[in-house]
Amino acid sequence: MKHLIRDAEQSDIEPIRSVASITWWATYGDLRNPEWIRSHLAEYYSPELLAEQIASAASTDGAHFLVATEDGEVRGYLHFHQLADQGPYLRRLYVLPEAQGQGLGKSLVEELHSRLAPGSSYLLDVHHENSRAISFYESLGAVATGERLEPCWDYYRVVVPDAS
Ligand SMILES: CC(C)(COP(=O)(O)OP(=O)(O)OC[C@H]1O[C@@H](n2cnc3c(N)ncnc32)[C@H](O)[C@@H]1OP(=O)(O)O)[C@@H](O)C(=O)NCCC(=O)NCCS
Repeated sequence: MKHLIRDAEQSDIEPIRSVASITWWATYGDLRNPEWIRSHLAEYYSPELLAEQIASAASTDGAHFLVATEDGEVRGYLHFHQLADQGPYLRRLYVLPEAQGQGLGKSLVEELHSRLAPGSSYLLDVHHENSRAISFYESLGAVATGERLEPCWDYYRVVVPDAS
């Protein structure tokens, strides 16, 4: 099925929350305890916080909140912004389990890269046992920095490739 990438809008808040909930349980169910998943989903995906982050991405240079849709339905999302201490940061990248492996994640990252300066770089963190995501990021050229966000999140750095 053909997918489209576009900027997130306020009307995407509930669909993003739904994709997040399904994808987090599928991704972290075996890696983190249920209380951690529940509390972090509630904190990081509150409607208020998402509303602020989507609005901020729309009005701030260097911040991007993207969604991948199929038939108009949100199937994945990417959130990128600037951290005061660490600079450009890929904060979130999640694709519904049933839509994984079909190029949505790659399309989200390619759209992000088309908006960034070639040769610039950014950080991301990934659970050290999330082998699927690590393979995906390595296929994009991500390199582990050797540092860890305790207790279990390894930092990777990605250099934005030249436009192809
Ligand atoms: C990681 C994730 C975002 C990747 O998105 P996706 O849509 O499944 O990946 P794509 O189909 O776009 O794959 C793009 C490329 O990644 C690589 N890749 C994807 N899955 C892979 C796997 N399981 N093993 C090795 N390489 C893989 C392939 O090289 C693929 O390139 P191809 O088009 O030549 O086959 C997605 O699987 C996901 O949401 N996973 C669960 C949530 C998660 O872990 N998010 C990251 C949190 S840090």
